[in-house]
Amino acid sequence: MTSAPTYDRPLHVAVILGSLRRRSRSRAIARVVADMLPPGFETEVVEIGGLPLYDADYDDPAVEDKPLPEQYQRFRWALAGANGVLFVTPENNHTVPACLKNAVDVGSKPNGESVWLDLPAGIVSHSVGRMGGYSAHKNLRLALSYFDMPMTGQPEAFLGSTGSFLDEEGNLPRPDTQRFLATWTQSFADLVRLRTPRRR
Ligand SMILES: Cc1cc2nc3c(=O)[nH]c(=O)nc-3n(C[C@H](O)[C@H](O)[C@H](O)COP(=O)(O)O)c2cc1C
Repeated sequence: MTSAPTYDRPLHVAVILGSLRRRSRSRAIARVVADMLPPGFETEVVEIGGLPLYDADYDDPAVEDKPLPEQYQRFRWALAGANGVLFVTPENNHTVPACLKNAVDVGSKPNGESVWLDLPAGIVSHSVGRMGGYSAHKNLRLALSYFDMPMTGQPEAFLGSTGSFLDEEGNLPRPDTQRFLATWTQSFADLVRLRTPRRR
């Protein structure tokens, strides 16, 4: 049997949201999940709204008139110091919101220095409709599959009909939804504890 290693400082989970709007349900759901993490974890939302669209010239030393944006640098540092990453995202036009896909691309470069490599990840998708952001979730998994990221398996978190369980204050009053997310959060925490990359 494998026992979880112990750590002398909190395990740091970077939270990335697939929505930029102020009253985002993604942000509210991420807050609920963060609160459900067991002791020994800390979370921080890594904002992605200010990331310029990915342009490989920035990472090309031969291109001298396009220096690396400091927003890329800060984003990459934030992820490089994380023990795990939690994505909470809606679905836009049946796929990953552009802001989130851009962040995945920014983190993936330069070649050989991807911040995603081996980083344990969990995905929670949601939508006002009944499919729970299924396509965004699966497309995000597909993009991340390139980086050997350990990921939570079952149950997968597709939260459908958000209007029926998320109240105006961003709370989840329904016990069944709370139970489901608590189970999911525990499996995510176990994954981060067991698989945090050695470099961190
Ligand atoms: C451009 C755009 C495209 C959308 N496409 C979908 C979609 O394909 N499927 C879906 O279930 N909801 C879709 N929605 C609805 C969002 O999932 C819903 O507004 C969600 O609450 C947004 O997430 P947020 O509250 O975190 O901002 C779309 C919304 C926008 C703005």
